[in-house]
Amino acid sequence: MTSAAPRPEGPGRGTPPPGTLPDAGETGCRMRRINGVALCFVDLAAFTDAVLHPPPIGTAPGPAPRPLPPEAFRVAFLGAADRAQVNAFKSFKKQREWMAGRFALGRLLAAAGLPAPNPREPLVTYDPRGAPRVTAHPQLPVSISHSNQWAVAAMVAPGRGPIGLDLEHRPAGELRYLVATAFSRRERADLPDDPREVIRLWTIKEAYLKYLGLGFHESLQRVEIIAGRLWHDGRAVAGLRLHTEYPWPDYALALVTPAAPSGARA
Ligand SMILES: CC(C)(COP(=O)(O)OP(=O)(O)OC[C@H]1O[C@@H](n2cnc3c(N)ncnc32)[C@H](O)[C@@H]1OP(=O)(O)O)[C@@H](O)C(=O)NCCC(=O)NCCS
Repeated sequence: MTSAAPRPEGPGRGTPPPGTLPDAGETGCRMRRINGVALCFVDLAAFTDAVLHPPPIGTAPGPAPRPLPPEAFRVAFLGAADRAQVNAFKSFKKQREWMAGRFALGRLLAAAGLPAPNPREPLVTYDPRGAPRVTAHPQLPVSISHSNQWAVAAMVAPGRGPIGLDLEHRPAGELRYLVATAFSRRERADLPDDPREVIRLWTIKEAYLKYLGLGFHESLQRVEIIAGRLWHDGRAVAGLRLHTEYPWPDYALALVTPAAPSGARA
């Protein structure tokens, strides 16, 4: 199931002068294309340095959310609605990965030559089950994931979706809880010993649920990978194209797309 692909470079740091629009390198952006899908990876450390002013002296770095008024930004890439949302989050971790996901999506829209979204609207709205839609271009299939030091967004041309993307960092320590919640009894009976492989299988299930737009509305245990095949509710899943890889040693990524883009000739 794994296919080889060029790897993005590892995390780096960059600090553009205030007011300049950072280029891809300065924000830790890495653009890639996999199976016709455009992806933008954002290194959270470089991104934070590039788009935010350093926190005021005396502000301890840590889990607390950071007040992010317009003047906290070196680069005004978030509209008012999104700034209000980012200020409502309960941790800086959530603030930064959420912003980086939007930033990545903004890069993909710009790279595709699409008109800049209206800054008064949220860049992304969600359908009732949580799947993201670009407010200004709801017909564009997109997917977002973040884990540890990276955020990544994916986008494909209308009619070539849906798409589901998941990136996971291998957590330190035991995977027992993950295995018990994310894998069925059938799968657990034959799970690989290698923790990296377990994480990779997990990303496939998560990416598949994002592809379906279900997210939390379906149990990961009803999506099974048995002998390299994907099953959902006891039925073999067909009609999908799956890409999986380890983009960095402790990360796994999965991207699910339709086997044949709708509208394409067989
Ligand atoms: C909701 C879920 C998709 C989030 O995935 P995650 O690995 O925890 O987090 P990721 O960073 O990879 O993904 C988060 C992104 O998923 C996207 N997402 C959320 N719900 C989604 C859905 N229904 N369909 C597609 N994408 C969805 C969002 O865009 C979100 O990013 P954002 O908040 O910046 O907009 C995931 O937890 C999930 O599907 N879990 C499996 C099902 C499960 O656990 N069910 C529990 C009930 S039994």
